Amino acid sequence: MPDSVNMLGPKKIATDVHWVGTAAGEFLRRNVYLRTFRGKGRIFNLLVDPGPPCDLEAVVKNVKSLIGGIDNLHAITVNHQDPDVGANAAALVKMHDGIVVLMTEETWRLAQYYGISRRNFHAVEKLRDLRTLLPTGQKIQFVPTPFCHFRGACMVYDPESRILFSGDLFAGVAAASLEATASSWTGIKAFHQLYMPGNDALRLAVSRIRKLDPAPLAIAPQHGGVISGDLVPQFLEKMENLPVGLDIIASLRDSVPAIISALNDSLTALRDVLGKDRVVKVMRFFHPDGSYPALFTLADDDRVVDIKAEPYAAIEALLRILYRQCPDQHKEALRSRIWNIFLDRNLPPPESALVDVDVIEAEIVEG
Ligand SMILES: [Fe+2]
Ligand SMILES: [Fe+2]
Repeated sequence: MPDSVNMLGPKKIATDVHWVGTAAGEFLRRNVYLRTFRGKGRIFNLLVDPGPPCDLEAVVKNVKSLIGGIDNLHAITVNHQDPDVGANAAALVKMHDGIVVLMTEETWRLAQYYGISRRNFHAVEKLRDLRTLLPTGQKIQFVPTPFCHFRGACMVYDPESRILFSGDLFAGVAAASLEATASSWTGIKAFHQLYMPGNDALRLAVSRIRKLDPAPLAIAPQHGGVISGDLVPQFLEKMENLPVGLDIIASLRDSVPAIISALNDSLTALRDVLGKDRVVKVMRFFHPDGSYPALFTLADDDRVVDIKAEPYAAIEALLRILYRQCPDQHKEALRSRIWNIFLDRNLPPPESALVDVDVIEAEIVEG
């Protein structure tokens, strides 16, 4: 595995396994992988999750630099139908009609609308034991991960390299390099809390990963860093116990103290940018004076001690007003600081409050 990555050109992550994506869109970087199988005097090139159209040029350039041309690409796998995962399959098949595109029937039902020809599609379900024997002699194994995060999502396991291509499962945001470290868990946790529907789905997926034989040495997700070594069992265990999606929403009823604590820390972050007086002025606006609903109960030091209304509606109303007043150059950092304050407590971030209203209005006018 590479130590650090400058993200230009293909990057070798193991023998005959290369990352062929692009560094563009760093926060949610798309990982595209090229696996070359060799045997019986033949070569078989497989592209895993070919990415969105904005990455096509870089992906094609990287693939060509490794195998000479798209004509030498034999197959593409698509984990699920999201555009960041598989939209490029349509363009690549148009460049070379001989490419077989493998995905589940569920994924195909939607991914076909990218314009992938049915002639090129091969359903994973039709493979005996969800395995396919390659002309080079190796087998690749498909591992469905229902509702992680799409019901037809399906991972690809390569028993020879012992790399598991996991799609959005184990994906992370804001990865500094192509190699995951212990600190990558923060970005993985944030991604799963937002995009995975519930812990049951994660548990089923983790149990399937644990059954793989031989056990994977590395997990290569579609976003973030490649997880290897001791981090594989460590992150499997963390994932198994991570509350996400509906778990978080259902638990909010018991989470008012954590929500109030997150709100107070967010107000501290906003004070750092706006100054104490400005924040106090807005808070007083929400204080009972008959002119506005008494959403918050404030202590003498202006800390929130109780929320009277539905907590998130109240918090979003308050944060929205304060966030709008922040200078543009602080907004990005402030947004990620407030996101982390909430995510650290296993709470969903108050997303709709942290949006630049001017941008939305401009988009509506233009769109
Ligand atoms: Fe996705
Ligand atoms: Fe994705």
